[in-house]
Amino acid sequence: MWCRTSPNIAYDALRKACGIKEKAVLQIIPTGETLGATVEGIDVAAPLAREHFALIVRALGEHGVLRFPRQQLEAPQLKAFAAHFGSLEINVAAAFQEAEHPEIMILSNIVENGRPIGARDAGQDWHTDMSYSETIAFANALYALKVPRRDGRPLGGTEFANMHAAYAELSAELKQRLDGMTVLHDFNKFWEMMRQRPGSWRPALTEEQRNRKPPVSHPIFLTHPITGRKVLYANPGYAMRINELPQAESDKMLDLLFEHQLQPRFRYVHRWSEGDLLFWDDIGTLHNAHADYGPDEPRLIKRCQVMADRVFEPAFLQGALG
Ligand code: SIN
Repeated sequence: MWCRTSPNIAYDALRKACGIKEKAVLQIIPTGETLGATVEGIDVAAPLAREHFALIVRALGEHGVLRFPRQQLEAPQLKAFAAHFGSLEINVAAAFQEAEHPEIMILSNIVENGRPIGARDAGQDWHTDMSYSETIAFANALYALKVPRRDGRPLGGTEFANMHAAYAELSAELKQRLDGMTVLHDFNKFWEMMRQRPGSWRPALTEEQRNRKPPVSHPIFLTHPITGRKVLYANPGYAMRINELPQAESDKMLDLLFEHQLQPRFRYVHRWSEGDLLFWDDIGTLHNAHADYGPDEPRLIKRCQVMADRVFEPAFLQGALG
């Protein structure tokens, strides 16, 4: 049953525009911060209704990060939900994949029988997943099974930065100057940065892995397929240089953009609960997994990466936006 706990005027209008009866509507409750909303009234393990798909896509564009609380998902259900939005990536590092479900990667600091069950340091600095890939990522679906807590407070939050807002607040002069330029992204940048950290488990990428994900370039400003607005598409994790500028100028400009895009007013922290499915937009956000918990404070999350191979297609957008 759909029950209303707070006024949600935008979604009332949206529901009417989509011609959806009240009963079938999800409740989408914005955090009131720069990003984030909670989606109530849906069992993600059940087949996804067409009208719910449309509402989720729109809400993702509007809020960037969606939390579906109290979910109970097995691997096939997590995959089935994520696959509505694009194809699922099998990570090039091929590490810590769920048995029989290589599209699901296990993020965890748990060690069982002397062996780590997951990547314990995944995403622990600012980045945008798959910006290093020819086909970029559209979204991430992360499902929390164990959340570390200290004194009742959840640890291991995931922090996001809003790239619609970061673009909007660039000066007109900078927007004009950088318009049409491209940024080179490299998977190895983040991988090596993490590998240099003390105690890293990461081996150097093999030549074969590097060849499968060679550096690629994307426009520095992308038009977001859902919102139709521009986003700043450069991130400290993978961005190597601005191709159209001399190296020194590019370094200076990237430093300036990184500082700009991570200002506190663009940031939002998701604090996890067990059973949360977090679904976020990779085109319009950056993220950083907080490493504020210890080896004896278990964290277990399963991740599915959705590629942007459908979200730019007219048929997908028609189905989602009408
Ligand atoms: C990631 O970057 O995909 C990991 C995020 C997290 O574990 O919070």
